[in-house]
Amino acid sequence: MTQQRTIAISMLNLLLLTLIFYLWSSDLNSGHLLRYPKSYESNTTQRNKLANRTAIALVFYGRQRYIRILYCYLVQNLIDNGGVLSSVIFIAKTNEALDLPYLDEIVAKHPGRFFRKNTTNKEISFHEHYQSLISDQYYFKMDDDTVYIHPNTLASMLQAKLTHPEILFVSANVINHPILGQVHAHMRAIHNLTGFENFTGSLHACDWRSYRCGVLQHESFIKRYKEGTLSAYMFPLWDFHHMETPGNYTGWSINFILFQGKDVMGLDMGDDELQISRRIPTLQKKHSIAVGSALTVHFAYGSQRSKGLVGRAEYYLLDKYGEVAKNACSLKVSNTFT
Ligand SMILES: *[C@@H]1O[C@H](CO)[C@@H](O)[C@H](O)[C@H]1NC(C)=O
Ligand SMILES: *[C@@H]1O[C@H](CO)[C@@H](O)[C@H](O)[C@H]1NC(C)=O
Ligand SMILES: *[C@@H]1O[C@H](CO)[C@@H](O)[C@H](O)[C@H]1NC(C)=O
Ligand SMILES: *[C@@H]1O[C@H](CO)[C@@H](O)[C@H](O)[C@H]1NC(C)=O
Ligand SMILES: *[C@@H]1O[C@H](CO)[C@@H](O)[C@H](O)[C@H]1NC(C)=O
Ligand SMILES: *[C@@H]1O[C@H](CO)[C@@H](O)[C@H](O)[C@H]1NC(C)=O
Repeated sequence: MTQQRTIAISMLNLLLLTLIFYLWSSDLNSGHLLRYPKSYESNTTQRNKLANRTAIALVFYGRQRYIRILYCYLVQNLIDNGGVLSSVIFIAKTNEALDLPYLDEIVAKHPGRFFRKNTTNKEISFHEHYQSLISDQYYFKMDDDTVYIHPNTLASMLQAKLTHPEILFVSANVINHPILGQVHAHMRAIHNLTGFENFTGSLHACDWRSYRCGVLQHESFIKRYKEGTLSAYMFPLWDFHHMETPGNYTGWSINFILFQGKDVMGLDMGDDELQISRRIPTLQKKHSIAVGSALTVHFAYGSQRSKGLVGRAEYYLLDKYGEVAKNACSLKVSNTFT
């Protein structure tokens, strides 16, 4: 038993180290971008390194209760506040009468920065929205239930994409993500979950689809945020396709990603996640990565909601994320927009 455990530990360590060093190029390695990120906002030297590159955020808008939290991070990342976002495009994919007025309210607050687009085929596909993007423009596509964005996240992702032309999609280091959750578990970053409990699979200790696993990851994040130990989640770069045969990649969750318009031009009707995480990289024979210091939190998957991450449990956690956001964003927003 002990011997098996030791072997398992060595193998996991080896795996982790291999992955961590894979693609860890001297560009990123020599900079401080992949360490515990300091704020970019007031550092002109750092901003110049990005060669004044800007990006646009695409948010598929559905649920006001999440956007009320995300809003503050979006404003914080606008170029007016030292961020990289020249604009934020909300693609309204809901008919909820209660959710849309809030969208119009925030769009009206940021003329020339926040925009609303409508979608006519919300049940079928978003391919028209992807195909209509500008080829050389950089876009961050984020889920509306992104409830935390670490300082410097967007700039670090942009930096990784700019310095790694061989890489296709660049993901944030998303908490509550089937693949990256396993990485966090192996790094022993998740409280109440030992690194060697199984993270995936329906019978195992922490099935990512489960309510318990979702709550565990949120509680762990909040505890670490309060303690100031978020660095426990951070790694340099993670290659999603490290062990796979070229041309046969497995999918991953695209909750918070960066790409150029041209990367998604070939998107067809149908599941955008499957195409972005798997089909397009397979065709182009390019890998996609996650940037460790670009920490974000994704609130929930449908299966976690259907197993209980709704109602009181959801509001309890959203209140906590509201408090985190107040702490992480309020000064910036109130300084500029009152
Ligand atoms: C800004 O970043 C540069 C490196 O890019 C660093 O040398 C400098 O100390 C930073 N300045 C501040 C005020 O953090
Ligand atoms: C970035 O823009 C500023 C102001 O427009 C300019 O002074 C600076 O030279 C630019 N930096 C780079 C690296 O292009
Ligand atoms: C989106 O739909 C709303 C409500 O029907 C409408 O007021 C708005 O003008 C539309 N926006 C665009 C860009 O089509
Ligand atoms: C992990 O999964 C394996 C089978 O895949 C099982 O034998 C083992 O007991 C599980 N460990 C835990 C801690 O659930
Ligand atoms: C995590 O562990 C702490 C004590 O270490 C406990 O109070 C808390 O309820 C646990 N959370 C979960 C979701 O198991
Ligand atoms: C692709 O990978 C999957 C497992 O990830 C495997 O089942 C399948 O046989 C592979 N296909 C080819 C053509 O290699």
